[in-house]
Amino acid sequence: MSSGAKKLWGGRFSGATDPLMEAFNESIHFDRRMFAADIQGSRAYAKALHKQGILTLTEQSQLDKGLATVLSEWQAGTFELKPGDEDIHTANERRLGEIVGSVSGKLHTGRSRNDQVATDMRLWLRDEVKQMVNFLRELVGVLVSRAQTDVDVLMPGYTHLQRAQPIRWSHFLLSYAFSFQQDTQRLEESLPRICQLPLGSGALAGNPFQVDRQWLAKELGFSSVTPNSLYGTSDRDFVAEFLFHCSLIMVHISRLAEDLIIYSTAEFGFVQLADAYSTGSSLMPQKKNPDSLELLRGKSGRVFGDMAGFMMTYKGLPSTYNKDMQEDKEPMFDAVDTLTGSLQITAAVIATLRINADKMKNSLTGDMLATDLAEYLVRKGVPFRETHHISGAAVKMAEDRGCQISDLSVADLQTLHTSFSNDVLLVWNYEKSVDNRSSIGGTSRVTVLAQIEQLKLWLN
Ligand code: ARG
Repeated sequence: MSSGAKKLWGGRFSGATDPLMEAFNESIHFDRRMFAADIQGSRAYAKALHKQGILTLTEQSQLDKGLATVLSEWQAGTFELKPGDEDIHTANERRLGEIVGSVSGKLHTGRSRNDQVATDMRLWLRDEVKQMVNFLRELVGVLVSRAQTDVDVLMPGYTHLQRAQPIRWSHFLLSYAFSFQQDTQRLEESLPRICQLPLGSGALAGNPFQVDRQWLAKELGFSSVTPNSLYGTSDRDFVAEFLFHCSLIMVHISRLAEDLIIYSTAEFGFVQLADAYSTGSSLMPQKKNPDSLELLRGKSGRVFGDMAGFMMTYKGLPSTYNKDMQEDKEPMFDAVDTLTGSLQITAAVIATLRINADKMKNSLTGDMLATDLAEYLVRKGVPFRETHHISGAAVKMAEDRGCQISDLSVADLQTLHTSFSNDVLLVWNYEKSVDNRSSIGGTSRVTVLAQIEQLKLWLN
């Protein structure tokens, strides 16, 4: 063998591995980050083997102590990789052997790296998902407290990126808070599917020593065992699902980033990013660029790529384990890392954002109340389809005269419909327009505060 190291699977081989192939085959440089999960799984498995009489109590406790030492070496950063450590499972077992001697050779009884790697990934991902849920909740918390502080700020609401109707700035912020709430719930709901234990599936056909898989599941804090050993070693749906959830979270982050990038242009001037989350130009001294937001938008593509790439690897595989599956970990790790950074940066950007409430308010224009004008006539009994036309005619009249719709006199409006009277002047009030929208989910002060309460209740 090129490395001179004894391979776990070397018994039936007489020829050496090409060094290029050795490098191509190894996964230790990325799967080492699952060291703790791998050791946790092995310690539980040794206990299960003892329960079946495969290991004596002394052997089991030797293995347990040895594995604890291996763990502490990883934690202290003193674990030394050696040639032939092809992946985390191989490396840990090799090191265990050095510490406890030949008894280490009993640990893998009835186990395969196929059920081992699937177990490690599920153990690892379970903890990461819980951490991600915390970051998401923090982000929702930031959006909610910001919404509460800024509740009296009005801004133009947009459809097609064209001025549509006045809304509260808080209403805008909360719209994203609710998306992130759904994201959190989706991640939490995926946990029982992640927490299915494959250990005890063997290479593919099952465990011949009747290890108590229910006991193992309990020992590892899993809610169930995979009910079929082929499925147990084959399945990576939990990775696919996780990558989808990450992609969708990044889509939400990206859309929020895009909104804020637009709002931060001089043309809009609604928001200003804190210096801490912006950068300058190497050429143009005046520039302050929203790099944090652009990176967030850009990274959404990256995470979608993790998902798309993984799906392509996964789709052509025949049943159970195939080495292609070694390609499942890097997208999972990358998605975790990208989301961990993105969620924290998003929260920080929102928390430190300066808003220009006057600029928002001054961007409101009378035509944005054209719907309110139509609704005024509705309240006088005119059918909405007619009022829509009448209000449209008022918009046109103002446009022709080069004035705001709110500058039209009552007499002008009466030429369009006889139901207009003096009280029509009360329509030209943005605050009132916003507060009229007080059905659940609307942008009125009362209903925005209710949204805030709803999210606070959920956060607690
Ligand atoms: N490093 C491998 C992976 O990540 C571990 C499983 C190897 N199994 C095997 N039968 N070669 O998928």
